[in-house]
Amino acid sequence: MVAAYRGRASAAPNAICDDPWALRLAGPEGEELSRRWDEHSPSMELWMGLRTRYIDDCVRRSLHRGVRQVVILGAGLDTRAARLRQKGVRFFEVDHPSSQADKRERLSKFESYPIEAVTFVPCDFEKDDFVVQLDEAGMDRSAPACFVWEGVIYYLHEEAARATLTRLATDFAPRSLLVFDYLNTKMAKSSPRLRPEDRAMKGIVEELGEPMHFGIDDPTPLMAECGYRFLRTVSFDELALEYTGTYARERFFRFQSIGLGSASGELSLW
Ligand SMILES: C[S@@+](CC[C@H](N)C(=O)[O-])C[C@H]1O[C@@H](n2cnc3c(N)ncnc32)[C@H](O)[C@@H]1O
Repeated sequence: MVAAYRGRASAAPNAICDDPWALRLAGPEGEELSRRWDEHSPSMELWMGLRTRYIDDCVRRSLHRGVRQVVILGAGLDTRAARLRQKGVRFFEVDHPSSQADKRERLSKFESYPIEAVTFVPCDFEKDDFVVQLDEAGMDRSAPACFVWEGVIYYLHEEAARATLTRLATDFAPRSLLVFDYLNTKMAKSSPRLRPEDRAMKGIVEELGEPMHFGIDDPTPLMAECGYRFLRTVSFDELALEYTGTYARERFFRFQSIGLGSASGELSLW
């Protein structure tokens, strides 16, 4: 469904993002799910377009600053390795073995997809240690990396989210950057004040077998406790203003944000 939204946002007039493979990767099933979700959340395509574009820009900026490793945690149908590839840069995709097998099967039908741009790192976060798996895949933990953790944190329990945040801050080069999106607790935890449309949207995700568990209202204490020295956050409305020049109160899409974190304070001019 996320890939379908990315594809739709890429095909729209004045597209904010550009993922030429997303719609085909999503297939009819993904597209149908996205159309179903539209009924409850007409701004979802805009959010997915903004999220894709902003995270792409963060990765590009990291590469421009000399980072040579990009790690995509819970990669799903992410195509950044193909879209943002550069000579000398390694893209590691860490994902559940079954998701990865499904993606590889889909990609095997694409004639032009540069599969060699990806290092696949199969890992079940419930059982395996992703740091060990990355070592085995040849990642250099002494050199900075750009970590993308998109569309994942709210599906974890707080304990697992904290443990991963802490390892990212402590087990890798301090000048590494983490980019992640998060939801506020009102959305993630089903506050009674949630609008009926939002509750319906949450219902669809739960029906799909991915209930949300973890929301963040103020990421500063969480990130400080997990070992970060740098944090910037940006909201959906701020990104919409920046990338489309528009603000619309009726979008009612205020619970999504993106955070940038680093264990080093040296990125403060980011
Ligand atoms: C909602 S998808 C996000 C996909 C992608 N990052 C995006 O934004 O399009 C969540 C991803 O988390 C992965 N995931 C869920 N549970 C996992 C586990 N126990 N171990 C490894 N990956 C897991 C799934 O395989 C899936 O790719």
